[in-house]
Amino acid sequence: MRALRLGLNVDHVATLRNARGGLHPDPVAAAELAIACGVDGITAHLREDRRHIRDADLRRLRALPAPLNMEMAATEEMVAIACALRPHAACLVPERRAEVTTEGGLDAAGQSEALRPAIARLSAAGIRVSLFVDPDPAQLAAAAALGAPVVELHTGAYANGRAGERERLAAAARHAASLGLECHAGHGLNFDNVGPIAALPGVRELNIGHFLIGQAVFDGLGPVLARMRALMDAAREGGH
Ligand code: PXP
Repeated sequence: MRALRLGLNVDHVATLRNARGGLHPDPVAAAELAIACGVDGITAHLREDRRHIRDADLRRLRALPAPLNMEMAATEEMVAIACALRPHAACLVPERRAEVTTEGGLDAAGQSEALRPAIARLSAAGIRVSLFVDPDPAQLAAAAALGAPVVELHTGAYANGRAGERERLAAAARHAASLGLECHAGHGLNFDNVGPIAALPGVRELNIGHFLIGQAVFDGLGPVLARMRALMDAAREGGH
């Protein structure tokens, strides 16, 4: 297994498909192409309002020969769907109907009593649970206390250029390791900003969607994934 995995989020292929109400472009076909190009996993977010990925997409993604990471809110409905589908991993995210994208991390510290049963049920179904959290020590401690094996650090503030955010992410990756948590990262990553995050030794997986799908319009999905992979590998070897 690679030291730093790349997961492609195919939500925005579904966004484009749904804009016309037909079948094209198919997010599952995009996932198949990405797997053929060597991506390490596929991520898809089943939202409460089904604005992009739909239930049938998830079932087809689950049948592909790459690990499926299902992003989901910790609701009764989603937990039941995940337990029936049994994806490789489930990443619990906060979800607000009106948001354009997942705007902030999960409040694992403030909502631990609500999250605990969802994490227990998903884990009992053999699903690897990760919590999408801000790079905040209290959130990491809460994730560890809840028994989640993985945290995904929200890189949105870093991608938006907030000062000191890379250092916060670096400290959070170290802290996660000290708590025995596997560390992933994602949100807003692109060719220009991926290097310093890929270089963090504790980070094991990046999940990237919007930029890769958007850039594929210009370069094609295969070349875009190859370039992202090369940038990740170079950063890892160079140790920014
Ligand atoms: N990781 C998580 C948990 C997310 O919610 C998202 C956005 O759906 C991503 C990664 C990917 O973010 P982006 O589409 O900005 O690359």
